[in-house]
Amino acid sequence: MDVYISSAQQPQGLVGTLQEDGTGGPSGDCNKVESSLRSLQTFVPADYASYTQEHYQFAGKTIVIQESIESYGAVVWPGATALCQYLEEHTEELNLQDAKILEIGAGPGLVSIVASILGAQVTATDLPDVLGNLQYNLLKNTLKRTAHLPEVKELVWGEHLEQNFPKSAFYYDYVLASDVVYHHYFLDKLLATMVHLSQPGTVVLWANKFRFSTDYEFLDKFKQVFDTTLLAEYPESSVKLFKGLLKWD
Ligand SMILES: C[S@@+](CC[C@H](N)C(=O)[O-])C[C@H]1O[C@@H](n2cnc3c(N)ncnc32)[C@H](O)[C@@H]1O
Repeated sequence: MDVYISSAQQPQGLVGTLQEDGTGGPSGDCNKVESSLRSLQTFVPADYASYTQEHYQFAGKTIVIQESIESYGAVVWPGATALCQYLEEHTEELNLQDAKILEIGAGPGLVSIVASILGAQVTATDLPDVLGNLQYNLLKNTLKRTAHLPEVKELVWGEHLEQNFPKSAFYYDYVLASDVVYHHYFLDKLLATMVHLSQPGTVVLWANKFRFSTDYEFLDKFKQVFDTTLLAEYPESSVKLFKGLLKWD
């Protein structure tokens, strides 16, 4: 099964306009910002009826996410809301202020947005097709709200990792991942990516809805290479949140 459906298309058709507090609504004096957001948009659903603006409350803010059911990477998954809840409830303990964070499979960006609002320096990554929508959501929700504007970068699991994210140049305090494990063919590459991005001290926070036997098989492999702690469970959504520290033996 391929993991995404949409293909990159011309910028067009954004829904809503940007307010200074990032909540959307009728256009005011933000035309400049909106036009720069338009130019960043590359993911466009074929069926405009599938576009929605979903509202989330985290870190004391309303976060508006442009979602489309046409792509796995354009919908907020349950692992993302669980991870956001954990981040906002443990901000000080996790020392998120100015922390360097990379999110893999960021999708529409909710986790990266919340981490940015909580003070972290965030790089949100995903497959090329969803980066436009990701960038749009990030800018819309973090402009004038964060100390560090989040970045967006392409990261295809297992591909050109040392070339694009050389260990000598990139260090992350946290690697975040929500609902990146499901029924797809890239699980070994996903694990290799988590390993590559981990250096001494890097903490992987992986939240996932557990549905399939393959999810538990991935967890077994994860535990072989990471010292693993179950940080939280969300029974209402079957999401488990794990902390992983790469084993260095
Ligand atoms: C189920 S969605 C989860 C999105 C988001 N993390 C969330 O929880 O709302 C899985 C994400 O992984 C990304 N993805 C899937 N296969 C990938 C690959 N081979 N390389 C990089 N990203 C991939 C998809 O584009 C998508 O954004």
